[in-house]
Amino acid sequence: MIGTNVLRPGFVQLRVLELESALTHYRDRVGLTEVSRETDGRVYLKAYDEFDRHSIVLREADAPGMDFMGFKVINDVALSEYGVALRKRGLEVTEIDAGEQPGMGRRLAFVAPSGHRFDLYADIELSEYGPMVNNPDVWREDPRGMRAIRFDHCLLYGDEIDATKEIFMDVLGFRLSEIGYDPDGQKIINFLTCSNKAHDIAFVPYPEKNKFHHCAFLVEDWKDIGHAADLMSRYDVPVDIGPTRHGATRGYTIYFFDPSGNRNEVFAGGYTYYSDSPLRTWTGDELGKNIFYYEKELNERFLTVVT
Ligand SMILES: [Fe+2]
Repeated sequence: MIGTNVLRPGFVQLRVLELESALTHYRDRVGLTEVSRETDGRVYLKAYDEFDRHSIVLREADAPGMDFMGFKVINDVALSEYGVALRKRGLEVTEIDAGEQPGMGRRLAFVAPSGHRFDLYADIELSEYGPMVNNPDVWREDPRGMRAIRFDHCLLYGDEIDATKEIFMDVLGFRLSEIGYDPDGQKIINFLTCSNKAHDIAFVPYPEKNKFHHCAFLVEDWKDIGHAADLMSRYDVPVDIGPTRHGATRGYTIYFFDPSGNRNEVFAGGYTYYSDSPLRTWTGDELGKNIFYYEKELNERFLTVVT
């Protein structure tokens, strides 16, 4: 396939152990806006610079982690075509009715060989709290908390990563922007993009299927990374690592945990990717610098703690 009709990561549905503490985290600390609470218990949120109705869905459950991640595609014709192509590839594709999430059209769901479920959809209502379009000010309402601009990407752990990566590339038209090896010569970093971003989704091999490493929110700049770090100290949000910088993507970053143990990231910067950009590669002897450019070494928690 040349090019893609996938626009971007549109939403992620996360499991949390306790809804109220999760809301304090995502709404008051990360700075998302609560859009709605539905009768099935799910809560819908969005970041201030997103046009679409919601991007984060929280569901109370006995174990944390990711239910599924949704990618928005360009239109309903493309959605149907992806359904045909995924089935042709041998994957089971389930149709989710419009309205299963409020304001959202029909979705096509498939489970990748890594065990993660991905949903594709073309239609979602625009938010009344989205960015202004007439004489647009920089924001409609003052950003709060960490001032998350938008939901940006997920990093997922699982097995059969090569087969999963091939589906994203061959069927959905994603491109491989950057890879990295560990000192044993195993490829452990796979960054895939459907846009001009350095990555829209990333996969790391892991013995278990369907594990969630983190979801990331974009913030404006290095100064806002510092502001986020201040808030993490002020409110005792558990930090994994940072503020620091990635070698891969070049993004500035902090990793932290929500009250259920799901890892979050706020990041800023990163290079612009074009479809003719050559693949960037990190060799195993530079693994530390690849992941944490300043520290040049990994912490064990970052490698092993997943939900
Ligand atoms: Fe990330």
